[in-house]
Amino acid sequence: MADITLKNITKQYGDGYRAVRDVNLDIADGEFVILVGPSGCGKSTLLRMIVGLEDITSGDMLIGGERVNEKAPRDRNLSMVFQNYALYPHLTVYENIAFPLRLAKFGDAEVDRRVHQASELLELDEHLQRKPANLSGGQRQRVAMGRAIVRQAQAFLFDEPLSNLDAKLRGQMRAEISRLQKRLGITTVYVTHDQIEAMTLGDRVAVLRKGELQQVATPRDLYTSPVNLFVAGFIGSPPMNFIPATVSDGELHTPFGEWRLPESRRPDLGGHDIVLLGARPESFEDSSVVPDTIREHGVVFDANVDVIEWLGNEQYAYVPYEAPEDIRAQLADLERELDSEAMRTQLVVSLDATSRIPEGTTAELWLDLRKIHVLDPATGRNLSVAAADAAGSDGAAGSEGAGATSDASAPEPSPAADENPSP
Ligand SMILES: Nc1ncnc2c1ncn2[C@@H]1O[C@H](COP(=O)(O)OP(=O)(O)OP(=O)(O)O)[C@@H](O)[C@H]1O
Ligand SMILES: [Mg+2]
Repeated sequence: MADITLKNITKQYGDGYRAVRDVNLDIADGEFVILVGPSGCGKSTLLRMIVGLEDITSGDMLIGGERVNEKAPRDRNLSMVFQNYALYPHLTVYENIAFPLRLAKFGDAEVDRRVHQASELLELDEHLQRKPANLSGGQRQRVAMGRAIVRQAQAFLFDEPLSNLDAKLRGQMRAEISRLQKRLGITTVYVTHDQIEAMTLGDRVAVLRKGELQQVATPRDLYTSPVNLFVAGFIGSPPMNFIPATVSDGELHTPFGEWRLPESRRPDLGGHDIVLLGARPESFEDSSVVPDTIREHGVVFDANVDVIEWLGNEQYAYVPYEAPEDIRAQLADLERELDSEAMRTQLVVSLDATSRIPEGTTAELWLDLRKIHVLDPATGRNLSVAAADAAGSDGAAGSEGAGATSDASAPEPSPAADENPSP
């Protein structure tokens, strides 16, 4: 087992495309780190550079403190599990798992010992003499992991290992991988574009966008303190709402009326004239069910609810609204980049299951202003997180637990955002 350090890692492909740009990341020994981002953002490229399947254009790759840039994949002693598992169809499960040991010329007794150790751990004992074609997707996945385990590699690298499975099996395998990783305590880097996997599996999540690292943080910190518009929109489902507002005298003019931020949050606005207010769906509520004790922390406004989705334990209301043209264009760009449909100029708000707001009516909604993020539409920066950093300890940059050492390193969680519930 080993730690993995990426220093200023850049990848430029033969055709000149820079797929990975100056990425800095420290992965601790035994840590489970997720690389997440939209299609084409460079996740696989980054993973393949760690394993040695792709040349590194510039920067240093260290495994266990040793520079490995020029080392062949087999000399790095890492185990990669691919999306399609790459099992040998003509070999039994036993021989598939034993394969790397046979290659390395281990004796039969040692092969047998290690294969059985792995198969017991993975509950594959009764399948050892079967062929991969006759196994379920989840079992094949476990065989692939078995092959990775017997090598006693320094780290596991996964590239979207669950994307071929149906939703139910994905859920099971997710739990399985998580359990196994904890039991083995082996350094793991896991690539996915699925934000549920990202939020549930890892100790820390690294968010990539167009080859650049945006933020590295625990799932909780990513959710409560996203550093910019991209991370804020990417993490969370349904995604965060972005409401345009113009600022005068600390007063916010929004499509839903005049709002006033709590005193403690005013500094977030800085000197900005136009901001985006980021509000997660669960920061809203049907005003009629909000307890009096917390009502004063929010604002009540009228909203035209055109669609309600009732899910049993909760419900979502959709509220279309008019936004200024330039803001709308920017949100549409972000939406395209995030592959999401939910980011139109409409609010998606979560309502208590007991709420009885009918579709196609004007309803009174309540928004908890303590939980709002203030974002700069020009740069995308989350001004609330920046303000909390400035108010907190100096030298918050490069803060503890944040592996990224780039500009976008994970900030301290903001006090205001701390009040957000976890996902
Ligand atoms: N061999 C190559 N030559 C040139 N460009 C490449 C090559 N391989 C990948 N790219 C480009 O590099 C970028 C990153 O690709 P990569 O496969 O790392 O993305 P990804 O984040 O894994 O995406 P996905 O989620 O779709 O798997 C893409 O824009 C891709 O077109
Ligand atoms: Mg990929």
